[in-house]
Amino acid sequence: MSSRPTEITNEIFNYLLKNFSAEDEFLLDLKRDATAAGIPEICISPEQGKFLQFYLKSINAKYVLEIGSLAGYSAIVMARALPKDGKLIAVELNPRNAEFIKEQAEKAGLSDIIEVVNQDAQNFVKEFKPDYELDFVFIDADKRAYHKYFDYTAPLLRKGGIICADNALAFGMIAQDDPDSEPKNVNALKRYNEKVASDERFFTTLVTMGDGMAMSLKL
Ligand SMILES: C[S@@+](CC[C@H](N)C(=O)[O-])C[C@H]1O[C@@H](n2cnc3c(N)ncnc32)[C@H](O)[C@@H]1O
Repeated sequence: MSSRPTEITNEIFNYLLKNFSAEDEFLLDLKRDATAAGIPEICISPEQGKFLQFYLKSINAKYVLEIGSLAGYSAIVMARALPKDGKLIAVELNPRNAEFIKEQAEKAGLSDIIEVVNQDAQNFVKEFKPDYELDFVFIDADKRAYHKYFDYTAPLLRKGGIICADNALAFGMIAQDDPDSEPKNVNALKRYNEKVASDERFFTTLVTMGDGMAMSLKL
């Protein structure tokens, strides 16, 4: 039936990983090192990584802001899709994670592109006044603040730029009428999706990859 998505079986998932994933030995090592350092494996999936790279390349992205960087997996994946003079600002609250990301960016040869900011992103976005327009914003931090991240970064984005928010399917609970929203923040994610879908300055869709990404194109 063509009106419903094709089910991604384990076999298909492995096929996708083998043929189209952005994940290489470096990223596998990063995940192993992160686990060994006690950082949970809650990064984006390999196919999300490839998709983000595809998007960044297709819009000729140069300036990216990431909110919530954990161990640097998505930051490194995205930075790899930027030109040599590109910039990715990775905002991460946890100082241990921030230090880990710096080490990994160095190891990946991407420390000229990735700038790690160890700060609460809710404070950072209020003060952030870059002397360039952003091409892409990736929101993947505290779900209850997603709407603030959108509001503060929307004016900093160029026309044709994109704000992408992860976990738009709220861990599979987005369509529940009365979700037990703790600790998954389902209601906050619902409110975010509704907000961006109705914002006429943007053209928004929800990509059902990984746990879903709400992608808003600035018109
Ligand atoms: C899901 S993880 C990010 C995963 C990462 N984007 C990846 O795919 O590799 C969420 C991260 O957001 C960080 N975080 C949570 N609240 C934050 C805040 N207010 N400011 C900055 N970072 C925050 C957490 O410390 C955590 O590392």
